Amino acid sequence: MSTALRNINPTFHSVQYAVRGELAIKAEELRDDLKQPDHGHPFDKVINSNIGNPQQKGLDQAPITFTRQVAALMEWPELAKLAPPGLFPEDVLARAKELSNEIGSVGAYSHSQGVPFIRKSVANFIAERDGYPADPDMIFLTGGASAGVSLLISMLISSPSSGILIPIPQYPLYTAALAQHQGQAIEYHLDETNDWSTNVSAIEESITEAKAKGVDPKALVIINPGNPTGALLDEKTQEEIVHLCEKHHLVLLADEVYQANLHRPSTHPFTSFKKIVSARQSHVPLVSFHSISKGVSGECGRRGGYFELTNFPPELVALIYKMVSVSLCPPLAGQIGVDSMVRPPRPGDASYPLWKKETDGIHAVLAERTATMAGRLNALPGMSVVASPGALYLYPRIRLSDAAIAAAKAAGKEPDAFYALALLADTGICVVPGSGFGQREGEWHYRLTCLCPGVDEYVQKLEKFHGKWVEKYGAAADE
Ligand SMILES: Cc1ncc(COP(=O)(O)O)c(C=O)c1O
Repeated sequence: MSTALRNINPTFHSVQYAVRGELAIKAEELRDDLKQPDHGHPFDKVINSNIGNPQQKGLDQAPITFTRQVAALMEWPELAKLAPPGLFPEDVLARAKELSNEIGSVGAYSHSQGVPFIRKSVANFIAERDGYPADPDMIFLTGGASAGVSLLISMLISSPSSGILIPIPQYPLYTAALAQHQGQAIEYHLDETNDWSTNVSAIEESITEAKAKGVDPKALVIINPGNPTGALLDEKTQEEIVHLCEKHHLVLLADEVYQANLHRPSTHPFTSFKKIVSARQSHVPLVSFHSISKGVSGECGRRGGYFELTNFPPELVALIYKMVSVSLCPPLAGQIGVDSMVRPPRPGDASYPLWKKETDGIHAVLAERTATMAGRLNALPGMSVVASPGALYLYPRIRLSDAAIAAAKAAGKEPDAFYALALLADTGICVVPGSGFGQREGEWHYRLTCLCPGVDEYVQKLEKFHGKWVEKYGAAADE
């Protein structure tokens, strides 16, 4: 090995990201194996339930036509002239023209904070959603929410004793960013027995424990709707959380990328933290993240998102601007995707009927699959799952027998990873073990997406596998 490569930044070794970890790598190997006629596996396709990637090959969420038509015209403006009349609806042509006038070529760098015109669209979307104004200068367009989260975490970790409160279970972007920037993860547990609710006194206890260990809590991460839990916060809890941040001088990092994935919106609506902070006239520094990867947009590969800063002093906003300017600008395709997400067709627009049909269909299918899967998984011995009201996932708890735990230990695996590897080998279904998101000592879970078509056949595979597992290792003793 060359001298330059012998000593690398040690934080690279400590970063973990289970969503694309051992299981996903194995699934890719299996996919290659299946190309051989005599592959010898008891299935003929690999099903990726490990990642919330709605347009992935093998899944059936189609892109929103409006989004793709605007994107096509932005990529190749000549198309507007060459297309036969009527191919592009009037509102799509008008939108592309308006964006072209503002942006010019998508091959050029834009303003580092994102195209000002699109930031105004985002501000209007936020103001309409919340009933409180938003300032385009406080909005930063990003290459997906991940880019913004990593930037803010890197900014907040000012010394090795800086800590950030993260939910357990959590989306592993947070632990990965903390490991990379050498900050401390201060864990607080969500309450599975109460539909994965967030308990403010549990957060308070974690703060006290962290301080006793010399860790300085700088920020609180809330993922709402939750990943992997799908839980939604009620406004009372959100107010308590803002109050807690006021009391402990914490920056509130509100990851709201699943705000449009609501399966039971009449009983489980989404309220943004921006609205709660504005209504209270709170001075809590808030960063709210959103993305085009989720919701009905599902444009993960386009890499678009934004964060909005609230109650940030101008000198910090200027510093953040300086840092984003080092990477020049977020991808233009992603920025245009953000514009389509925050400015969809309105009633009366030519594209509206199709947009409505497509988006209603996506919501209905996801809600139906989530409910069906939760109902059937709950009927399995040793398995329980909260029927998520939001996001794209279920996070079942599996109770494992001593024999199963001993077999996992003998194989050198965490018991839930052992279960997930066996599931993959038997069915081709790839899930992520709970150890990748965090869980209480001695508890085991896995996360699976609710995006797979043919839900009946899909769940049958899970059921059959679980039956064989229980036959082989026995049921867990009652708790
Ligand atoms: C909670 C949460 N935050 C952020 C992200 C990152 O999304 P992206 O970078 O694609 O916008 C994800 C992706 O799955 C997520 O689940």
